[in-house]
Amino acid sequence: MTSFSVTAQIGVTGLAVMGSNIARNLARHGYTVALHNRSVAKTDALLGAHGNEGAFVRTETIEEFVGALEKPRRVLIMVKAGEATDAVIEDLAAVMEPGDIIIDGGNALYTDTIRREAAMTARGLNFVGAGISGGEEGALNGPSIMPGGPKESYESLGPLLESISAKVDGVACCTHIGPDGSGHFVKMVHNGIEYADMQLIGEAYHLLRDALGFDAGRIAEVFTDWNSGELESYLVEITAEVLQQIDTTTGKPLVDVIVDAAEQKGTGRWTVKSALDLGVPVTGIAEAVFARALSGSRAQRRAADGLASGMLAENPTDAAQFTEDVRKALYASKIVAYAQGFDQIAAGSTEYGWGLYPGDLATIWRGGCIIRASFLDRIKEAYEGNPDLPSLILAPYFREAIAEAVDSWRRVVSTAVRLGIPVPAFASSLSYYDALRAERLPAALTQAQRDFFGAHTYERTDRPGKFHTLWSGDRSELRTE
Ligand code: 6PG
Repeated sequence: MTSFSVTAQIGVTGLAVMGSNIARNLARHGYTVALHNRSVAKTDALLGAHGNEGAFVRTETIEEFVGALEKPRRVLIMVKAGEATDAVIEDLAAVMEPGDIIIDGGNALYTDTIRREAAMTARGLNFVGAGISGGEEGALNGPSIMPGGPKESYESLGPLLESISAKVDGVACCTHIGPDGSGHFVKMVHNGIEYADMQLIGEAYHLLRDALGFDAGRIAEVFTDWNSGELESYLVEITAEVLQQIDTTTGKPLVDVIVDAAEQKGTGRWTVKSALDLGVPVTGIAEAVFARALSGSRAQRRAADGLASGMLAENPTDAAQFTEDVRKALYASKIVAYAQGFDQIAAGSTEYGWGLYPGDLATIWRGGCIIRASFLDRIKEAYEGNPDLPSLILAPYFREAIAEAVDSWRRVVSTAVRLGIPVPAFASSLSYYDALRAERLPAALTQAQRDFFGAHTYERTDRPGKFHTLWSGDRSELRTE
């Protein structure tokens, strides 16, 4: 530990677990890190426990903190997203100088980041909204980092952020994403995909439990096995670990004594709201957000206990075959969730003029982040092969993977329906796939209905223009445009 007169290369303010771990990660990489927290006790706790891991500069006031930094100053804010972030930015901006860089590493809403960046630019400061994924462990040992903001800021920040990020095949899981709110937008969609992935894993678990009667230990073995194939991923790996955990009080699998009501901090919901505005069908993510909401409707669920289930139940007779079907259904549904997430990123990029490269995201999500998975290498290759892919599903590798899985996918969804096991994400992903490939959708009927009650007009398949039928008159057709 050094005194605050030393010039630090970066400062971290907000020293809860994520902030502390990022500060330690920076110090372990040889950077001198100025530390600041609203209550100095947290700063001292960090220094007491880990002060010997590198060069830290202890500071108490914002003035001291900013004064300890070399110019241009770089400050990473790691506080709870929302009003707390605005308050810290205001305190910093009051003492920082033109050319200094403020980095918000929290899970900020990207529209807040756009607003904050504009306000800081007007004051001559550089503002970088950086998505950081990987949880506590990633923050310490190498997260995936998604920094937005001005390109010039990345020139100063890039080497530093890349050095502390995760690496896959020697490539850093960090790159400049694009202007203003793009880093936080991409992190938001990452979290949306995380929700979909977790929901799909949950549905697979539910099917193995209720259709096959497997206990948690046996399902853990299935997930361990899946983790050595095309489903290999952090979330599948931790699922196996979670399912193996035994509760010390009851001796039962821990998962069986946890209340089945999932909470959410909001990034999944933001993803869906943004997708609705952009008009992108992120059905897998939406089902995941709604499934959490339904699980949390505890009073309603209690009141619904005993509702009729129907009599079509037929448990699968071949457990090995059904398990393999579930694996394939999970893989196909997961491809759909990622395809939808990448569609949203493309739509956001167009809407805000960000110029995002999907292949870059697949690259930096291969390590460090919560959705890291082997198949991100395949996504990276797909976009390298064709940066303008109309849908990830259409890349040769994924088209083939789904072709190979689709029969299993249908068997799993129909078995779940017959048994009364809810599989909203599996089923809606399959329906999305079927809608995407359908030659003719019932939307023609929707258009006719809209024209009937609201004269909203329709296009024809055989000639250009807009048309309206005089539904309440003689039912002849007019060309309106
Ligand atoms: C990550 C995670 C992280 C987080 C979210 C999700 O990328 O490291 O996504 O940001 O765990 O807070 O939490 P909720 O499930 O509560 O929305």
